[in-house]
Amino acid sequence: MSYNLLKGKRGIIFGALNEHSIAWKVAERAHEEGATFVLTNAPIALRMGELNALAEKTGSQVIGADATSLDDLNNLVEKSMEILGGKIDFVLHSIGMSVNVRKGKHYTDSNYDYTTKGWDISAVSFHKVMNVLYKKEAMSEWGSIVALTYMAAQRVFPDYNDMADNKAYLESIARSFGYFFGRDQNVRVNTISQSPTPTTAGNGVKGFGGFIEYAEKMSPLGNATALECADYTITMFSDLTKKVTLQNLFHDGGFSNMGVSETVMDKFVDQE
Ligand SMILES: NC(=O)c1ccc[n+]([C@@H]2O[C@H](COP(=O)([O-])OP(=O)(O)OC[C@H]3O[C@@H](n4cnc5c(N)ncnc54)[C@H](O)[C@@H]3O)[C@@H](O)[C@H]2O)c1
Repeated sequence: MSYNLLKGKRGIIFGALNEHSIAWKVAERAHEEGATFVLTNAPIALRMGELNALAEKTGSQVIGADATSLDDLNNLVEKSMEILGGKIDFVLHSIGMSVNVRKGKHYTDSNYDYTTKGWDISAVSFHKVMNVLYKKEAMSEWGSIVALTYMAAQRVFPDYNDMADNKAYLESIARSFGYFFGRDQNVRVNTISQSPTPTTAGNGVKGFGGFIEYAEKMSPLGNATALECADYTITMFSDLTKKVTLQNLFHDGGFSNMGVSETVMDKFVDQE
């Protein structure tokens, strides 16, 4: 269902890799809600070619950018404003990668070159994106910037590895940069902390299948899907949430406030 919530709004959407990606669903929903936007991803992801189908479906152009490169980001923002014909109303940062996870390094045995690369991609890239937008004054007044995060920033999930630290860093950047963006340009900055979701990044986490089932049984409303995350993100891009900023917003069916659920307890109670 469409409510025209983003009618006339212009955006940049980072991180759609394939149809499972949360950013993919956000792009589809933003299109349905009347937005125009540029799709971007790392050059290596573009080579897989899947993004072209989304671009065609949503009438969007694709611009490659490694989100760790200020040159790429400057080019992306300049070209996006040209293509879209004005300032940017919304930006989605939907980027995450841990080299330690990819290479199977245990948290207690991190390779620090991998750690550095991981936080640059997963957290500092958000600072770089905002730095470029802020300096160019590329955001419209009351524009909205959202990054996706996970609750391992606050609680221990052992197999989430150094992505937990990257997410804590990402959420802190949202608050710190969000202050200046709010004070100087009336732009809001938030993170959405999403349920475990079966995507390429999600499935890279060890034991993800069991974990997703556990979260499902802990959450009174069940896990939030990628499409539901997209719906929530659209509200954060809309004019209905103008005074929400510097927040980490849990979108997880209630998981983050649970201690234990009866369904989970039932697996441990003495059956005799
Ligand atoms: N899947 C989950 O369980 C889950 C839960 C909470 C939060 N998140 C977060 O949601 C976001 C999107 O992940 P997803 O689950 O849709 O997986 P995904 O694998 O579809 O998306 C991750 C994206 O990051 C991009 N990326 C990696 N390195 C990049 C770089 N240098 N420059 C630009 N882009 C780069 C990838 O190409 C990919 O498109 C991530 O921040 C992730 O941590 C995911």
